[in-house]
Amino acid sequence: MKTHNSEKYRPTFHFSPKKNWMNDPNGLVYFKGEYHLFFQHNPNDSIWGPMHWGHAVSKDMIEWEELDIALYPDENGTIFSGSVVIDWNNTSGFFPKEPGMVAIFTQNLHDADHTTPIQTQSLAFSHDRGRTWTKYEKNPVLKHPTKVDFRDPKVFWHYESEKWIMVLATGQTVSIYSSPNLIDWQFESEFGENIGCHDGVWECPDLFELPVENSEEKKWVMFVSIGDNRQFDSGSRTQYFIGSFDGSNFKVDENNNEVLWLDFGKDNYAGVTFSDIPKEDGRRIYIGWMSNWRYANEVPTVGWRGQMTLPRVLSLRKIGDKLRVIQNPVKELDNYFTKQIVIHDEIISSGIQKKIDINQPSVEIVLNVNNLGAKQFGLVLHHTENQSTTITIDLLTNLLSLDRTNSGEVSFSENFLNNQVMKIHDTTKLNLRIIVDSSSVEIFVNEGAHALTSLIYPDKACEKISIFSLGGDIQLSNSYISFPNSIRRN
Ligand code: FRU
Repeated sequence: MKTHNSEKYRPTFHFSPKKNWMNDPNGLVYFKGEYHLFFQHNPNDSIWGPMHWGHAVSKDMIEWEELDIALYPDENGTIFSGSVVIDWNNTSGFFPKEPGMVAIFTQNLHDADHTTPIQTQSLAFSHDRGRTWTKYEKNPVLKHPTKVDFRDPKVFWHYESEKWIMVLATGQTVSIYSSPNLIDWQFESEFGENIGCHDGVWECPDLFELPVENSEEKKWVMFVSIGDNRQFDSGSRTQYFIGSFDGSNFKVDENNNEVLWLDFGKDNYAGVTFSDIPKEDGRRIYIGWMSNWRYANEVPTVGWRGQMTLPRVLSLRKIGDKLRVIQNPVKELDNYFTKQIVIHDEIISSGIQKKIDINQPSVEIVLNVNNLGAKQFGLVLHHTENQSTTITIDLLTNLLSLDRTNSGEVSFSENFLNNQVMKIHDTTKLNLRIIVDSSSVEIFVNEGAHALTSLIYPDKACEKISIFSLGGDIQLSNSYISFPNSIRRN
């Protein structure tokens, strides 16, 4: 097995920058056999600072190669979040010979001094698969006379109305614009004033269509990240809305004021989906930034800071009588793990702990659990003799919680000590998929119906695990533990 994972906390199969600071994923796009991941990057320090777009490419979204910086600040400002599209029909006029990439991003003026920032949208284009970029000479292409928070353009081609659509975070709403050519933008509508969570500034919207599992139906889904607000405990997190989009307005299906959260862990923020995944593939794939603004600048890595979630395939499923977003790691991840331990038809009796040696830099644990009358069961990830993370499922309340208070380095933020809790819709038969890397745990419950993403900073990823049951027995069927094969650090 190849492993270059010598730096403490450095993930083995999650993207992290070689050096210095990273936050949001930007410009996720597939083009000519490569997945591109651009990212918010401060190349001069390992805390947030003047933003650039870093750049990495991959054939499978798991093993990434970091390339040179794609976009540098200029007289219009630093380079904030945005998206990349392929201009297949040369609507912009940038591609007289063959189709290429257009980046649409926010520029932020005055982030270093203390005057009010000015946020505008700019363009850059590339003729060489994103290796070099030319900024459009008439930048910026979109400004607003009064709005201060005016950022994070996510652009896509809307087939029905044959125009480009941009969703943009504008304070605590999302504004929708349209354009024939990516250069001239027209305001269409504003969404969100009286709906959803308004605990913080709205950031990094995305809007796309998703299939409903086991049906012909499709629905439009809007993701909106909500910035940290110190009045609340939650930190930064992502909400979503399900509805319809007619090329101009996004309308939510049922306005029942229930806020829908994408992830119940603390560490999945500012995520967006890939553009231009080929039709024959058809997947809608998401990557989030695996951190939280509450402590992102303080996490205890040295020389680099920030990592991405696993790429996840999104869909919609009816859970009870409500549609919900489903997320599962991309199947490409399976090539990186080999099943090593199979547990089938085994009873874990109340009060007994089943211990399994792992000693790996990462591990995937899949448990299919039949409840034979237990009140609670769970799993302890023993990172070392003294450091552990505990996942408990309370079968009376249907709450899954992750406790990382003893998971290793935790002293950098009080907020890091709070339990992370997620309600599970159905616990009669439970399917748990838990992926542990050097400094993260991602939990997917019931084939992606619920997700919880959490950073951890243990000295080692996983020495052993123990599975326990309390107040009654559980039965494990078709369960397995997989170890990584041939890992290469990004
Ligand atoms: C979200 C965000 C965006 C902004 C970027 C700046 O995490 O605040 O709204 O464009 O980060 O780095």
